[in-house]
Amino acid sequence: MMLRAEGLTKIYGKKVQTVAVNGVSYTFESGRCYSIVGPSGSGKTTLLYLLSAIETPDRGTVYFGDVDLFSMDEDERARFRAKHFGFVFQHFYLLPYLDALENVAVRFYLKGDKVDWKRAREVLSKLGIEEIKKPYEYSGGQQQRIAIARAIVTNPDVLFADEPTGNLDSRNSRIVFEILREIASEGKIVIVATHDTELAGTCDTIVRLKDGRIVSE
Ligand SMILES: Nc1ncnc2c1ncn2[C@@H]1O[C@H](COP(=O)(O)OP(=O)(O)OP(=O)(O)O)[C@@H](O)[C@H]1O
Ligand SMILES: [Mg+2]
Repeated sequence: MMLRAEGLTKIYGKKVQTVAVNGVSYTFESGRCYSIVGPSGSGKTTLLYLLSAIETPDRGTVYFGDVDLFSMDEDERARFRAKHFGFVFQHFYLLPYLDALENVAVRFYLKGDKVDWKRAREVLSKLGIEEIKKPYEYSGGQQQRIAIARAIVTNPDVLFADEPTGNLDSRNSRIVFEILREIASEGKIVIVATHDTELAGTCDTIVRLKDGRIVSE
């Protein structure tokens, strides 16, 4: 399976316009881990939002296999996303009134699957989260790992991760990148935006962004 960006462009603002992503065309192949690197403001988060169809492009589109993500209506697209994609947000977005296990388990509901509590616990445990409590009772790094568990628990075909090690120490960062590589080796597509150049180098391909454009691979 392939995820293909074609001329993806996103412009923010009316009076003062920012071209956050500027004509990006690129093919992501299954079984590979891609890191997206570039300075702050270069468009990494915006590109991940477009590729995962969270945001709608102003120009261009995204194909997953031969499915054009932006030819669907919004409900269809949301269902498609829940079924095929997992996303680790830069700012986690855990649901504050649910505990860690419920936050992870919610993904099964969204996908329309039966909740597999055992699997949810196992994935959390793999990321070093054993004690179950409310999100605000964890450290930032622990919340980040819960967000990762939530994104991977349903085995998505494409995993997007936005700075997934931004709040982690080097030991936990390595564990997370090992998990990302393992997911890619299972035949999934992994796309991770990161500032950590050392960890970026552990991915199969480094995609460099500058001013919303790919400058090299
Ligand atoms: N919702 C928004 N409304 C207006 N401008 C935005 C919005 N989101 C992003 N931008 C702008 O688009 C550009 C790209 O932002 P983006 O968040 O994609 O960068 P980034 O590479 O992820 O940066 P960082 O490394 O700091 O996370 C920036 O100039 C930013 O200010
Ligand atoms: Mg960002």
